[in-house]
Amino acid sequence: MRKPEPIVEVAATGRYLPDCVVTNDDLARRVDTSDEWIRTRTGIRERRIAPAEVLAADMGAAAARQAMERAGVEPGEVDILIVSTATPDRWLPSTACDVQARLGCSNAVAFDVMAACSGFIYGLSIAEGYLAAGRGEVALVVSAEKMSSIVDWDDRSTCVLFGDGAGAAVVRPANGSGRGILSSHLRSDGNLANLLHRPAGGAAMPLTEAVLAERSHLVRMEGREVFKNAVRSMAEAADLALQQAGLTADDVELLVPHQANIRIIEATAKYAGIPMDRVFVNVDRYGNMSSASVPVALDEAVEQGRIKAGDDVLMVAFGAGLTWGATALRW
Ligand code: UT7
Repeated sequence: MRKPEPIVEVAATGRYLPDCVVTNDDLARRVDTSDEWIRTRTGIRERRIAPAEVLAADMGAAAARQAMERAGVEPGEVDILIVSTATPDRWLPSTACDVQARLGCSNAVAFDVMAACSGFIYGLSIAEGYLAAGRGEVALVVSAEKMSSIVDWDDRSTCVLFGDGAGAAVVRPANGSGRGILSSHLRSDGNLANLLHRPAGGAAMPLTEAVLAERSHLVRMEGREVFKNAVRSMAEAADLALQQAGLTADDVELLVPHQANIRIIEATAKYAGIPMDRVFVNVDRYGNMSSASVPVALDEAVEQGRIKAGDDVLMVAFGAGLTWGATALRW
């Protein structure tokens, strides 16, 4: 198959992680768990937790500033600002508008994408379409997640899994550079929404004292079912994105998967036929930062020299919705 010519490239990335490190032992002092259980079942050793005053928009803006600086982009040059978040700072307006105000991107159209952990992959694809249609020259895709604000800190089956952080990417027309998005495969299945959701707090079940007492406004997850679907969906998305890009698993220099659980990452890599020495892992240090996981991993991989100019990279993610997707990218 003829390899596609990228229409847009990722010009630069950035990240922000809160300073506060919470270890498994710290959590074991709060809920009935242990470092051993968390490490062996998930691969997580510690995660970052943002203080109350640091909002998703603050983290997103910090990651975006770094990406813009590296790309040499001024705030006024941004045409479209897409923020993916499962933890908007408030329900109205969008977190994207709050990020826009912090950055001073006054010429941009700004809006949120709700695709949970797949949000960065969705955001990149939307940015690609917008720029391909000739509607602008610079897109900013920001994934900002304050998961600590929506987990139930008394539920050991979920609170040990998540962390806070943000990642960002500046996307621009590739202009024949050969760099950029080779293919993108996105999917979702709303029939499985209740496997991972926040039952209350929205219009269907507004906040009441009863809701607060039973904590149904916080994250609920059927872990085992989500696990099975995650492996199946990410493997499928990885296959299709590679096919569409005219690549095979051997061509992939680095797999950058969503960081929910080391066992999910290992199973996905195995299905995709990519050995673990070509898979980026940071779930041990940050836990699951929802949509921020992929861009933070991408940014660290570039910084560590694991991705070099001309390398083919495969990003793959999965999350609530259910949503999933993969992007093949030439760096
Ligand atoms: O971002 C995308 C969405 N999220 C994911 O992709 C997460 C997908 N799911 C998972 O990663 C795994 O299912 C978990 C890590 C959440 C759970 O691992 P598991 O191997 O599926 O465990 P389990 O839910 O089947 O629970 C096994 C046991 C249970 O005890 P019993 O019923 O066997 O006595 C749980 O009560 O482990 C118990 N357990 C814990 N024990 C100590 C659950 N959470 C904990 C805990 N510490 N934190």
